[in-house]
Amino acid sequence: MPDRPIGVFDSGIGGMTVVKELFDTVPGESIVYFGDTARLPYGSKSVETVRRYAREDVELLLGYDVKMIVVACNTVSATALGEVERMARGIPVIGMIGPCAAEAVRATTSGRIGIIGTEATIASGAYEAAIEEESKRAGKQCVTFSAACPLFVPLAEEGWTDHLASELIAEEYLRSLRMKEVDTLILGCTHYPVLEGIIQRTMGRRVQLINSGIAAAKLVAEILQREHEGEEGIAVSESKVPSHKVLVSDVPRKFQTIGERFLGRPLPEAQRVVWKESWTVER
Ligand code: DGL
Repeated sequence: MPDRPIGVFDSGIGGMTVVKELFDTVPGESIVYFGDTARLPYGSKSVETVRRYAREDVELLLGYDVKMIVVACNTVSATALGEVERMARGIPVIGMIGPCAAEAVRATTSGRIGIIGTEATIASGAYEAAIEEESKRAGKQCVTFSAACPLFVPLAEEGWTDHLASELIAEEYLRSLRMKEVDTLILGCTHYPVLEGIIQRTMGRRVQLINSGIAAAKLVAEILQREHEGEEGIAVSESKVPSHKVLVSDVPRKFQTIGERFLGRPLPEAQRVVWKESWTVER
C-alpha cells in the first residue's frame, strides 16, 4: 500500500508545536502541514467564519490524499470539529480537546483544572464539556476555571519567551487561576507551549501543565498502531524515510524563523497556496 501522509492544519504557525510532538512520537510518518497564515488569527473570529475556514483547510489536505487529519488548532477543535469530521470522508480526525481533557483529568489530584486558550476556545465551553465527560468516565470530581489569553499568541510569535513584558502579561492573565488553586493547567492553544517556561513560573512549579500537542500525538500513535494491528486501512510508517511538506496561505516575513523556533529543527521550505474557488499551489 502506498505510504500516505498525515494531514495537519492550524490557523498559522502554532500547529508546529503539535508537529514537533508528532515528529517525536511517530517519527516514520510523513506530514503535510497547512498553516492558514493569510487568515490568522482564528481565535478572535466568529464560529461561522472558523467553520468555513476549517472546511476549506480540510479540502486542501484531502487533495494530498492524507490518511488522517490532525486539527492542530484548539480554536478549530473547539468550534468546528464536527465540520472537519463531516468533510473527512471517514478518515480519522484528531482534535486537541478530547485527548487534552482526558490527560488533565488523569493528571489532577485536587480536581481543580485551569484552562487557557483563545477567546473563541474559552467562549465555546468545549474543554469544560470534555472534562465533565472524562471525569464521569474516570469517577473523579473535577471543577474547571478558565481564562482567555489572546496576547500570548503574538508574544510566542515574537519569541518573547523570557521577556519582562511576557511575564507581566502572564501575571495579569493567570492571577485568577492561581488564586483558584488549580493543580493542573491546560495549555489550550497551540502557541502556548512556546511560553511554557513563563507560564510554569507564574503558576508555580506544583501546577502540572498539559500540552495539547503531546496528548494528541499519543492518540495519533495509538490509532496508527491499532490500524496496523488490524492490517488494513491506514498503515503505520515505521521503517520509511518520511517526507514532509509545508503549505501556507501567505508567507509572513518571519515564517521560516518562527516555524523553526516552534519546531526546534529546520523546516522544509514552505510553499504558498491560494484559494481560487479551490486551492491551487502558486508557482
Ligand atoms: N492556533 C490557534 C489555537 O490553537 C491560536 C492562534 C489563532 O488565534 O488563530 O487556538
